[in-house]
Amino acid sequence: MKCLSLRKIIVKTNKMATNRTFTMLKPDAIENGHMGKILDMIIEAGFDIKAMKYTRLTEDQAKKFYEVHAERPFYGELVEYMTSGPIVAAILEKDNAVADFRALIGATDPAEAADGTIRKLYAESKGRNATHGSDSDENAQIESDFHFSAAEIF
Ligand code: RTP
Ligand code: MG
Repeated sequence: MKCLSLRKIIVKTNKMATNRTFTMLKPDAIENGHMGKILDMIIEAGFDIKAMKYTRLTEDQAKKFYEVHAERPFYGELVEYMTSGPIVAAILEKDNAVADFRALIGATDPAEAADGTIRKLYAESKGRNATHGSDSDENAQIESDFHFSAAEIF
């Protein structure tokens, strides 16, 4: 019995690493009234919501979350934008979650995003682009841990 439980835990842990991604519906999406439509697209595309939070990033949180871009010219604007209003943060599960979710949101710049993608439909601009999606399994885990404790994941 003990061995079986341990095996189950290992399988679950592996699944977490490979099949989850992290998203934020960004302030422009909330401000423009697109929260429900974007969540509906996410659910319709087959993603299970494992955790979700309606919150507002502090300046420190936004700086830390996007610190990989600290040297980029748009960093100050990005931090200001990401703290300008509430966001929805969520952990999503699906086979091939990271790549499939990046496909669902589309290119960073909505002008380059494919038809039917979230950014094509709802983003205002390259900077104010409605939705974040993790770019790797490793970052999905880091970003999920940044926003959620184990007790908040279902
Ligand atoms: P994200 O991390 O938010 O999912 O976006 P991404 O991978 O498609 O794009 P990334 O290169 O990681 O950039 C992060 C966010 O910075 C803003 N940005 N503004 N004005 C600009 O040229 C510019 N470039 C990037 C966007 O909000 C972008 O999503
Ligand atoms: Mg990115």
